Amino acid sequence: MKIQRNKVVIIGAGQVGSAVLSTLLSSGSLAEIVIIDKNEKKAYGEALDGSHSTAFAYSPNIKVKQGTYEDCEDASIIVVTAGPSAKPDEVVDRIALAQKNIEVVKEVMEQIITYTMDAIIIMVSNPVDILTYYAQNYFGYPVEKIFGTGTTLDTARFRRILGQKYLVDTKNVHGYILGEHGKTAFATWSSSNIAGVPIDDFDIIYDDVPLDKEAIVEEVKQVGYEILINKGYTNIGIAKSVDRIIQAILINELSVLPLSTTLTGEYGIEDVALSLPCIVTKDGIGRRLEVPLSVDETSKLRASADFLRETFKKTYK
Ligand code: LAC
Repeated sequence: MKIQRNKVVIIGAGQVGSAVLSTLLSSGSLAEIVIIDKNEKKAYGEALDGSHSTAFAYSPNIKVKQGTYEDCEDASIIVVTAGPSAKPDEVVDRIALAQKNIEVVKEVMEQIITYTMDAIIIMVSNPVDILTYYAQNYFGYPVEKIFGTGTTLDTARFRRILGQKYLVDTKNVHGYILGEHGKTAFATWSSSNIAGVPIDDFDIIYDDVPLDKEAIVEEVKQVGYEILINKGYTNIGIAKSVDRIIQAILINELSVLPLSTTLTGEYGIEDVALSLPCIVTKDGIGRRLEVPLSVDETSKLRASADFLRETFKKTYK
């Protein structure tokens, strides 16, 4: 094993890859960041620009460069952001990207496995659950070392909406968006709480404006598209989500994050990748938590699984 401590390779220097680079540069916990893109000039420019930010950073000697797949050989973490993302004027559904991005991930995975089977691979490209399933199951890579960002960002959006509604620290809001990173995602209302107080009890304290659960989940699901329609792409929130996951890996934080992985019988579901709360370790996914779900939540999880499984079958030829 040749892993060099704290070296991250970002594949794709588009809006998301560049934002991941920028966020990781300010996190201060990496020794080296490499960015790769077919458009070598773009990757070179991003690396050069990013390198100048290090003078203001906690770790001024961090190496930043444009690289090649060979850099994966001693990488600890590889972040896959390659492939087109949803465009406001063409498609407004992540799923529509499946066919094209399966081809992109095929190319990317074939390159990665030439150089390493040791790095942790974080899938970010969309539709993230479809691409995670493909990457996890078709290339012989250790399954615990590949996962997708899944509903980490949706969960952050959910917690923020609730935190803002009740004017409490988002970190005191507990609850998840699970399932697909997309239209079939759902909230775990039955176990959601604020600082240990069940959400419905907490809401009574604020009963002048009762909680509209459906509207909140709808907002969580729509807000990605709202960003897209207004600025043309989304990148800041997802970049911070990637940064959060990387911190959890680097310090073996054992944090619970809703990441996309292929299920192996949880809730009677298998052979499809979607988000459940997962314990993240320095080696990747520690275990998936089968959190208690209500009957309604369980059926939403099943619907999400069926939708994703069908979509993969229809798309992958
Ligand atoms: C979003 C992209 C990452 O939801 O799908 O912002």
